[in-house]
Amino acid sequence: MFSDSVRCLVVVGAQWGDEGKGKLVDVLAEQATIVARYQGGANAGHTVRVGEDEFVLHLIPSGILYPTRRCLLGNGVVIDPWTLVEEMEGLRVRGIDLEGRLGLSRRAHLVLPYHRALDAAHENSAGTEKIGTTGRGIGPAYRDKVARCGLRIGDLRDAGRTREIVERGVAAANAVLERLSTDERVDTDAVLDAIEDVRGTLLGLATDTGEELRAGLASGGRVLLEGAQGSLLDIDHGTYPFVTSSTTTAGGAAAGVGIGPTLIDEVLGVVKAYTTRVGNGPLPTELDGEAAERLRHLGAEFGATTGRPRRPGWFDASVVRHASGVNGLTALAVTKLDVLDTLDEILLATGYELDGEPVRGFPDSAADLERVSPVFEVHPGWRTETEDCREWEDLPERARSYLRALERWSEVPVRYVSVGAARRETIRLPAGGIARTS
Ligand code: GDP
Ligand code: IMO
Ligand code: MG
Repeated sequence: MFSDSVRCLVVVGAQWGDEGKGKLVDVLAEQATIVARYQGGANAGHTVRVGEDEFVLHLIPSGILYPTRRCLLGNGVVIDPWTLVEEMEGLRVRGIDLEGRLGLSRRAHLVLPYHRALDAAHENSAGTEKIGTTGRGIGPAYRDKVARCGLRIGDLRDAGRTREIVERGVAAANAVLERLSTDERVDTDAVLDAIEDVRGTLLGLATDTGEELRAGLASGGRVLLEGAQGSLLDIDHGTYPFVTSSTTTAGGAAAGVGIGPTLIDEVLGVVKAYTTRVGNGPLPTELDGEAAERLRHLGAEFGATTGRPRRPGWFDASVVRHASGVNGLTALAVTKLDVLDTLDEILLATGYELDGEPVRGFPDSAADLERVSPVFEVHPGWRTETEDCREWEDLPERARSYLRALERWSEVPVRYVSVGAARRETIRLPAGGIARTS
């Protein structure tokens, strides 16, 4: 999607996460010079297949697998430094050279051991309001950021300031842990010792991501901004409170790396040809019983971060129209089409009804979304393998017809169709999408 007029592209999930953003970013990184993550933390699990090798990235942008690409973690990301160091080591032992290729914003906040402890304690005490978080300390880390008591990478230059912030953080966390009747307590010195282990590495990678990106663009570079999670997990536009704690949508991309929104040229929304969700909260087109089991099995739908089974459902065009509106999507990438190859019938939700009336817009209330009934269109399955298709014309007519409907109901042009996890298993469509083909 890069061209002379497209220099900065945002890639966002347009459902509930795990849409295949990692694969798309990896494919697009071929044409990029810098790839930057703008939000989220190690709650993400982005899987990239390169040849026979599979890499699962939690913090490092998926562009890292292309040699020479510079990869940045922006100020909007919350960085668990021990997970980061482990991930860097994991890549190094598999022959990925990181020298000079990774940068961390000095303004990025750290996820500390007490954030994980608080995440677990809140979840365990939440009863029916349990979010089903990934347990990576994300909510508590963003809470400290917004409450103006977080520890940023840049703070590590000052040992006194680091100690002060950690002391206050530990005291506050222990008070909450006690109130929530857990036995776990955090120790200031243990946290400071653990920070000392990674301090040199973090400061060695510290940079101003905004400045780097602006300079990169000014000198003719091409930038990919990689989103984590999905639009329906956005703190404002998602299915609150069953969301993550950051702005996952494209509006957060500029703020999350330190550039102005006027530098962003296009926003690519990644969707599966069906839907999945991990954790709790409404999922209007959710399948159950044997049908759910079958789709989960066909799509290998188990979380890349926690291993939890994902909840499968049919493609939901209401969700994607909502995601399109809040992101300003200019194109869609549809992934995992091949997963539907063996099905007799494929359903596509075109809209919702609530209490017998058509629903206009997208419900802001999770309780309402639990009550809506999707209006389904039924498509006959193509019952042919699509994995080897490389061009639009190679796809079976029934698959093309399904994708045409998906594009029409989503109201966004489809520019990529992915038919397998590998790079080459990708069909590219012209600007204007499917409507511009036959
Ligand atoms: P992300 O979080 O959006 O990057 O997505 P995940 O990596 O969590 O989940 C997507 C999974 O689907 C990964 O295991 C990918 O390797 C795999 N995948 C991506 N695209 C395709 C595709 O077109 N077909 C199939 N069968 N698998 C795919
Ligand atoms: P990627 O980037 C799918 C979900 C969790 C939970 C909610 C809040 O791989 O698409 P959190 O730990 O963020 O406080 O959990 O968000 N969640 C994801 N679901 N893919 C992800 O990331 C997710 N990151 C968080 O399951 O419902
Ligand atoms: Mg994932």
